Order: sequence, then C-alpha cells, then structure tokens
Amino acid sequence: MLGRTRLFLYIAVLLLCVVPSLQTQIRKSREQALGQYRDLSLETRERIEDPGWWPTKGDAAESEYADPGACAECHRDLAAAQHETPMYKAGRRPDDAEVLERHPNLTFDEGGFTYLLKSGSNGTTLTVGRGSNVESEKVTWAFGEGEVGQTYLFKKDQTYLESRVSYYTTLNALSITAGQRVDVPSTMEQAFGKPLQWQETQSCFACHTTMSTTSNTFHADSAVPGVTCQACHGPGANHIKAMTGGSGEKANIFNPGVLPPATSVDFCGACHRTWADITLDMVDTGIIDVRFQPYRLENSRCWRAGADARITCVACHDPHRPLVRDLSTYDKNCLSCHTRGVHAGGLKAPVAICKVSTAHCVSCHMPKYVVPQARASFTDHDIRIVHPGDRFPE
Ligand code: HEC
Ligand code: HEC
Ligand code: HEC
Ligand code: HEC
Ligand code: HEC
Ligand code: HEC
Ligand code: HEC
Repeated sequence: MLGRTRLFLYIAVLLLCVVPSLQTQIRKSREQALGQYRDLSLETRERIEDPGWWPTKGDAAESEYADPGACAECHRDLAAAQHETPMYKAGRRPDDAEVLERHPNLTFDEGGFTYLLKSGSNGTTLTVGRGSNVESEKVTWAFGEGEVGQTYLFKKDQTYLESRVSYYTTLNALSITAGQRVDVPSTMEQAFGKPLQWQETQSCFACHTTMSTTSNTFHADSAVPGVTCQACHGPGANHIKAMTGGSGEKANIFNPGVLPPATSVDFCGACHRTWADITLDMVDTGIIDVRFQPYRLENSRCWRAGADARITCVACHDPHRPLVRDLSTYDKNCLSCHTRGVHAGGLKAPVAICKVSTAHCVSCHMPKYVVPQARASFTDHDIRIVHPGDRFPE
C-alpha cells in the first residue's frame, strides 16, 4: 500500500515539474511557428487579444462608430444588397422579425405545459401555462433570421433567458430549442427557458448584433440589430471624416480584403468559429461540426495543400450579398485550381482533375447533411470524394 502511495507521489511531483515546462515548450514552438508563418488558424480569443480591429471585439468606444445608417449614403448599392442577407437579419427586435409577422400566433405543448408566442401591436409575448397557472414574458430579441430557425430572448430581473421553444422553418412550427434540456421541465421557470450566463449573453449579442459591447462594456439595450457594416469593418467615424474631409487621406477603416488566406478565414470564423476554436475545444461534436464551415474547409485536402486565396470564404461568398443558391456558379471557384496544368497551395505537381464530370462540382463534392439539432441541412465544406452510402466522416 505504502509503496503505491509513494509511487503516486513520485508521479505527482514529476508531473508538477514536467507539465508546466511542457506547456512552455508547446507555447514556445507554437510562437516560433507563428513567427515564421503568421498565417495560421488561431483561436478567436487570441485574435481579440491582438491589437487592432477584429469582429466580436468590444474595446472601441461608441464615439468611434458612425451612425449605422451613414455607410449607405455613399456605399448605396453595397448597403442595399447587404440588407437582404440573413446576416443583416440575424438579430432583430420582435416587431421587426419577419417570422413573427408571418406567424402572429405560434403554439406548442409539452408534458402538461402549453406555450403561446403571440405577436401584435403590443409587441411579442411568450405565455406559458400549466393547469390554472399562466405566466407571460415580453420577448426583447429574436435571434436567427429564420432561414433555419429563430430563438427568442427575454430579460428577467438582470438575466437574459433563451426561450425553451424556437421557431423551426422545416417544421413551420415551434419546437424545443437546440442545446436545451431534453426532459420535460419541472417548474414554470424552466419551461420559459434557460438563463444565460453573462459571458454567453455577451457573445450571443456579439455574433448576432452590432455595437452591443463598446469600451468593453456590454449594453444589449442599445445594440444595433443584426450583423451590419461596422460588425465586420469596425468603427467607421474616422473613415467618414476622412472621406468627407478632402483628398489624399487614408481610408481609415479596416478592409478584410487585405488579409492573408488563413487569417481571412479566421475573420469569418470570429462568428462561424475558426478551425482552432473547434480543434482546441476538444469536444466531440459529431455531425454538428458541419455547421462550422472554417473547421470543415481547413480539414479538406484542397486547403491542407497550402492556404490559398482561391479557397477562402470570400473566394466563394460575397458577404455583402445573399448566399448564391445556383450550385453551378461555384464551378469557376473549383476550376480556378482543378484545371489541367494549374498549381495550387504548396504543391509541386499540378492539381488533380476530375474524371467523372466537368460541371456542378459541389453537388458531388460538398454534400449536404441534416443536422438533427438544427432540424435543417447544411453544406459540408470538407471538400472531398464522396461515394454513395459514405457516412459522415468525423
Ligand atoms: C462620405 C462618403 C462615405 C461614407 C459615408 C462611407 N464611405 Fe466607405 N468609402 C468611401 C470612399 C470614397 C471610399 C474609397 C473608394 C472606394 O474604394 O470605394 C471608401 C472605401 C471604403 C472601404 C474600403 C477601404 C479600403 O481600404 O480600400 C470600406 C471597407 C468602407 N469604405 C466601408 C465603409 C463603412 C463601413 C462605412 C460606414 C461606417 C462607410 N464606408 C461610409 C466613401 C464613404
Ligand atoms: C459578426 C458575426 C459574423 C461574421 C464576422 C460573419 N458572419 Fe456570416 N453569419 C453570421 C450569423 C449570425 C449568421 C446566421 C444568420 C441567420 O441565419 O440568422 C451568418 C450567416 C452566414 C451565411 C448564410 C446565409 C444564408 O443564406 O443562410 C453565410 C454564407 C455567411 N454568414 C458568410 C460569411 C462570410 C463569408 C463571412 C466572412 C467574410 C462571415 N459570414 C462573417 C455572423 C457572422
Ligand atoms: C460565436 C458566434 C455565435 C454565438 C456566440 C451565437 N451564435 Fe447563433 N449563429 C451564429 C452563426 C455563424 C450562425 C449561422 C450558422 C450557419 O448557418 O452555419 C448562427 C445561427 C443561429 C440561429 C439560426 C438557427 C440555426 O440553428 O442555425 C439561431 C436561432 C441562433 N444562432 C441563436 C443564437 C442564440 C440565441 C445565441 C446566444 C444564446 C447564439 N446564437 C450565439 C453565430 C453565433
Ligand atoms: C460579414 C462581414 C461584412 C459585412 C457585414 C460587411 N462587409 Fe464589407 N467587406 C467584408 C469583406 C470580407 C471584404 C473584403 C472582400 C474581398 O476582398 O473580397 C469587404 C469589403 C468591403 C469594401 C471594399 C470593396 C472593394 O471592392 O474593395 C467596402 C467598400 C465595404 N466592404 C463596405 C461595406 C459596407 C458599406 C457594409 C454595410 C452595408 C459592409 N461592407 C458590410 C466583410 C463585410
Ligand atoms: C486553392 C486551389 C483549390 C481550389 C479552389 C479547390 N481545390 Fe480541390 N484540391 C486542391 C488541392 C491542392 C488538392 C490536393 C490533391 C491534388 O489535387 O493534388 C485538392 C483535392 C481535391 C479533391 C480530392 C480530395 C481527396 O480526398 O482525395 C477533390 C474531390 C477536390 N479537390 C474537389 C474540389 C472541388 C469540388 C472544389 C470546388 C468546390 C475544389 N476542389 C476547389 C486545390 C483546390
Ligand atoms: C469552394 C467554395 C466555397 C467556399 C470556399 C466556402 N463556401 Fe460556404 N458554401 C458553398 C456552397 C456551394 C454552399 C451551398 C449553397 C447552397 O446551399 O445552395 C455554401 C453554403 C454556406 C453557408 C450556408 C449554410 C450551409 O452550410 O449550407 C454558410 C453559412 C457558408 N457557406 C459559410 C462559409 C464560410 C464561413 C466559409 C469559409 C470558411 C465558406 N462558406 C467557404 C461554397 C463555399
Ligand atoms: C457526379 C458527381 C461528380 C461531379 C459533378 C464532379 N465530380 Fe469530381 N469526382 C467524383 C467522383 C466519384 C470521384 C472519384 C473518382 C474515382 O475514385 O475514380 C471524383 C474525383 C475528383 C477529384 C480527384 C481526382 C484524382 O485523380 O484524385 C477531383 C480533384 C475532382 N473530382 C474535382 C471535381 C471538380 C473540380 C468538379 C467540377 C468541375 C467535379 N469534380 C465534378 C464525382 C463528381
């Protein structure tokens, strides 16, 4: 017995000495790698600690931001197009949410609880009943524009709650919000929804609204709904001053177009989650991974051959315009590399050519999978050869 205790002690002491130095070593070798090659996927947490602008970062002061409507005065066409995107509509006040306008009375029943989500001239209220006990709460935010679904937030005392029921487009009805408890709630409180931790609330608004945190202070009440210009480009007051103040001045605004490929993908990953965010999380997520496009994309062989501007998010998607649904338009992206004699990434030999087809590439190589939690299908950005009957590779 004593021998074993001593052995444990030895191991414990050894670990105490080795682990910190191992951590320092890992950090050092990582920093070295980064020093040589800054263009690697990083965790969003790290990106935000770096100086300068990054989406979801909240250190800029409110006075550095322009009025959200000001950008449209000069960038008229771009703004008109951006206002049609799901990103622009990702976070709304209930009286502005198209889903609620179309469905003013949504109901749901679960284990003795009845739910009514009612919208009208007095706003939107969530009413929960059990027997003779009936309570209502005013909904303050609707998150998700409804392409997939919409979840509701309301404030009780100083805490935000995420509604237990969400609208799902494929069901055209309410159902249990993804990520919430699966067993029937035992109290009215639980039936309304899940209280969010302060940190959860802040990041929820950081990804679905603009300017919810300024000077590192979170103030949901004055957040600008949706992902608007300054959620991606950062504060724009100085830019407007420069653009109206005469010629020869610098644009004075963050242009993500200049970012190297991996950094550019991390930029979208500030909200869509970066490869490093998912990898270092080390949670086995399974099929839900398909929602984290940067992670899937960077796992593909197209990316692993070497980061290349032809395969970043913005190579295929214009963030100012709605998602292009005609799959043949993506052929030109694939063919920018997969054409006879063309080199890509760090490869010495030209890239491979498809023997099966010369068009509609993504229909075979970027399959769609239903994510049960979201009750919707998503496109797998891990570009690869898929044979009929292949299972989702985790
Ligand atoms: C007074 C007119 C005006 C307003 C208002 C304005 N811009 Fe601009 N913006 C310009 C002009 C002019 C340029 C440079 C020409 C060009 O590239 O379109 C420019 C360029 C840009 C660029 C590219 C910068 C670069 O480095 O190439 C971005 C990004 C941008 N604007 C974003 C915004 C955002 C966001 C807002 C709102 C906060 C805004 N602009 C408001 C006139 C304006
Ligand atoms: C500030 C956070 C944020 C950033 C940065 C961001 N996104 Fe998004 N994006 C969202 C949210 C939130 C949604 C979900 C919209 C919804 O369905 O409500 C979304 C949805 C989308 C969609 C789906 C549109 C559809 O029709 O379903 C595309 C495509 C997209 N984003 C591309 C990009 C690209 C490309 C970038 C980088 C240039 C980017 N996003 C950066 C938050 C962000
Ligand atoms: C790190 C950024 C981030 C955070 C934090 C975040 N979201 Fe999202 N959310 C997204 C993005 C990006 C999408 C679009 C995903 C896609 O289309 O692949 C999305 C999609 C959604 C949707 C659309 C339905 C669906 O399942 O796609 C809802 C509803 C939603 N979010 C609600 C919330 C709520 C409520 C919170 C906070 C409690 C939250 N989100 C926190 C980035 C975020
Ligand atoms: C989801 C993030 C996102 C949002 C929201 C967004 N932009 Fe951009 N914007 C980008 C990215 C990424 C680029 C670089 C695109 C590229 O290089 O292909 C860019 C480029 C630009 C440019 C330079 C265009 C050029 O041709 O060089 C201007 C101007 C601009 N954006 C203005 C705006 C305005 C105005 C809004 C709001 C109406 C807006 N952006 C909203 C991500 C965004
Ligand atoms: C930046 C250049 C680039 C782009 C853009 C690109 N690929 Fe690739 N892709 C590569 C490289 C490099 C490889 C590694 C294998 C090789 O060709 O030598 C690869 C590999 C593949 C493979 C083989 C994967 C495997 O597991 O064996 C397929 C299939 C593929 N790409 C399809 C596509 C499709 C479809 C598109 C468009 C949606 C696309 N690629 C876009 C560079 C690219
Ligand atoms: C090689 C082209 C290509 C690249 C690169 C690419 N996408 Fe996509 N993306 C697509 C296609 C194709 C669809 C499906 C369009 C449709 O459904 O009609 C799509 C769909 C999406 C959607 C809608 C939800 C879904 O999963 O169907 C989002 C969000 C998205 N992409 C974000 C991103 C982000 C973020 C990046 C960068 C990591 C990225 N995409 C890189 C081609 C691309
Ligand atoms: C009808 C489905 C289908 C379409 C459409 C299609 N592919 Fe393929 N592709 C396949 C299959 C299946 C294979 C594997 C063939 C094999 O194993 O011999 C393949 C193989 C490949 C490979 C690997 C070749 C190699 O020798 O390693 C690449 C790269 C590729 N496709 C790219 C593309 C591109 C780019 C397009 C569009 C121009 C495209 N594919 C359109 C089904 C398709």
